[in-house]
Amino acid sequence: MFLSPELHFAIEQEIASLNSSHLVRAYEELSQHYRQKSFEKVSFKLSKEHCVAYAASRMPATYEVAVHIFTELFKQRPELALESVLDIGAGPGTCAFALSSLHTFKKITLLEKEFQFLELGKRLFQSLPDLAFKNATWHLSDAANMPEFPKSDLTIASYSLGEMNPAVRQNVLAKCLKATQKIMIVIEPGTPQGYTNLMTMRTQIINQGFFILAPCPHQNPCPINAPDWCHFSKRLPRERFHRLIKNVELNYEDEKYCYLVASPDEPPLSTLSRIIKKPMKRPGHIYVDLCTSVGLKREVVPRSRQEKMRQAKKAKWGDSW
Ligand SMILES: C[S@@+](CC[C@H](N)C(=O)[O-])C[C@H]1O[C@@H](n2cnc3c(N)ncnc32)[C@H](O)[C@@H]1O
Repeated sequence: MFLSPELHFAIEQEIASLNSSHLVRAYEELSQHYRQKSFEKVSFKLSKEHCVAYAASRMPATYEVAVHIFTELFKQRPELALESVLDIGAGPGTCAFALSSLHTFKKITLLEKEFQFLELGKRLFQSLPDLAFKNATWHLSDAANMPEFPKSDLTIASYSLGEMNPAVRQNVLAKCLKATQKIMIVIEPGTPQGYTNLMTMRTQIINQGFFILAPCPHQNPCPINAPDWCHFSKRLPRERFHRLIKNVELNYEDEKYCYLVASPDEPPLSTLSRIIKKPMKRPGHIYVDLCTSVGLKREVVPRSRQEKMRQAKKAKWGDSW
């Protein structure tokens, strides 16, 4: 799924309004800050260039990941209606764009502490005709300082909780869960650190009475042991502006991510497992590595099981099985 033509055009307009060498420099500064995890430690005022550089370089990947997670969720729960949405650390509103490509919501509240991100988000929202976008409520606020969040069917925190220090993260996540009426989604980078942070959040989510819907097919502790970690990957083409900002030639990239989808309502019992590695095709059979309700398992699908083989040929890392 690519960015919608309207969003693509709106990002191009933002880029065209700024000096391209300033944007490339802003991207380098931004990635250096992300690498150092210094957002909390060092005061770093985000400029308009930093935020547009983020939209050009990171938004396509985070959009793609969010679309995939929403797609799987609606496959699992086709009846699910998410009318009100709360986005914590919304940045330029990436998740709202991703959700709107699949689902109609009536109301969205976006919480963002950086003025320039919020302004960029508002401008990008103008590019969409959808009423929910026109009626969006943006809050310029530090999530840590709000006593509570508005109640919403869906609460999403995409690549944002990991930016907070552990005590703040725990506090913000608790408020997210309290506000969630149907679904809570957390997305983090698919690095060992992102996974470690996510596992701490998973324990908190379960302890606060929620049930994990995805990717785990169980509520038990994660059975994956170091040096492995649970994460997924999406390959996406790099747009022209994407390559320009990153100053790279390669026309695709692999976005590694990890995530949790949780609900306060107990899901019906399911026998589905999760594919946790890229299936390995070998002569005469395919290996499918799974996380199941009773632990990790490798399924060997021989060519003789024709229907299963057809399924295995199409199966992708991250799909349910
Ligand atoms: C990596 S960006 C992700 C943006 C967006 N959610 C996405 O997926 O593209 C993280 C965002 O979280 C915001 N953020 C971090 N800590 C926050 C806090 N305590 N309160 C509100 N926003 C916060 C940052 O300003 C930034 O816009």
